[in-house]
Amino acid sequence: MEDTTKLNTSKLGTKEYWDDFYSLEKQNFEENPEDTGECWFADNDAEEKMVEFLLDNLGEYNIKEDSSMIDLGTGNGHLLFTLLEEGFKGEMIGVDYSEKSVEFAAEILKTKYSQNDNVTFATADIFNEQWAPGKFDVVLDKGTLDAIALSGIKFENNETVVDVYPKVIEKILGENSILLITSCNFTEEELIKIIETETLKKWKSVNYPIFEFGGVKGTTICSVAFLKSSAK
Ligand SMILES: C[S@@+](CC[C@H](N)C(=O)[O-])C[C@H]1O[C@@H](n2cnc3c(N)ncnc32)[C@H](O)[C@@H]1O
Repeated sequence: MEDTTKLNTSKLGTKEYWDDFYSLEKQNFEENPEDTGECWFADNDAEEKMVEFLLDNLGEYNIKEDSSMIDLGTGNGHLLFTLLEEGFKGEMIGVDYSEKSVEFAAEILKTKYSQNDNVTFATADIFNEQWAPGKFDVVLDKGTLDAIALSGIKFENNETVVDVYPKVIEKILGENSILLITSCNFTEEELIKIIETETLKKWKSVNYPIFEFGGVKGTTICSVAFLKSSAK
């Protein structure tokens, strides 16, 4: 059977694409401060669903109002700003390998959330082995694995980004902590195949409306939470 966890490469997998994208979004924001940029998967209310999921599961494992959170491939930082507005008050960091994304998100922070010092943004390639941001209670990914899976980059031993991704997550996830990931390129079953390890297991998933076409049922997007338990 075809391995559907391997996607074809695309310009969405290049840093150049994202630098150009966020340069333009930053310019738009400077002209109109109401324009904070594109909210990825907005048609599916993915951001609202991720935030709602965390609110509904407050008190479970390390999900608390003051959980430390990291948003991988943060883009315009919108997800962290929404979490802030919904009352989350732990340390929140958004990282992105595009300096333009980080400049843009930091500018929104300064312009609209200047009273807040819980949120920070930093440039980082999450696949850089030297990158060691510490451990977090909640790791967030909205569309980032989707984008990086399109990069076609190979590491030592011919490993793909999809092979390395769970190792990156395990490095930055504390015990009893959660990865909440949203994807439109991978199904829930594919995400489980990519991400699950001995200590990282699917915990819960978010419900999206189900479409039916030609007798086949499915969703165009999925958000799945993985729990890191202690090593056996
Ligand atoms: C589809 S966009 C999603 C942006 C944001 N999460 C959102 O929901 O709007 C993918 C993001 O991943 C970032 N990205 C891609 N590869 C990365 C890497 N290796 N390290 C850090 N960020 C990366 C891109 O710069 C881009 O901002």
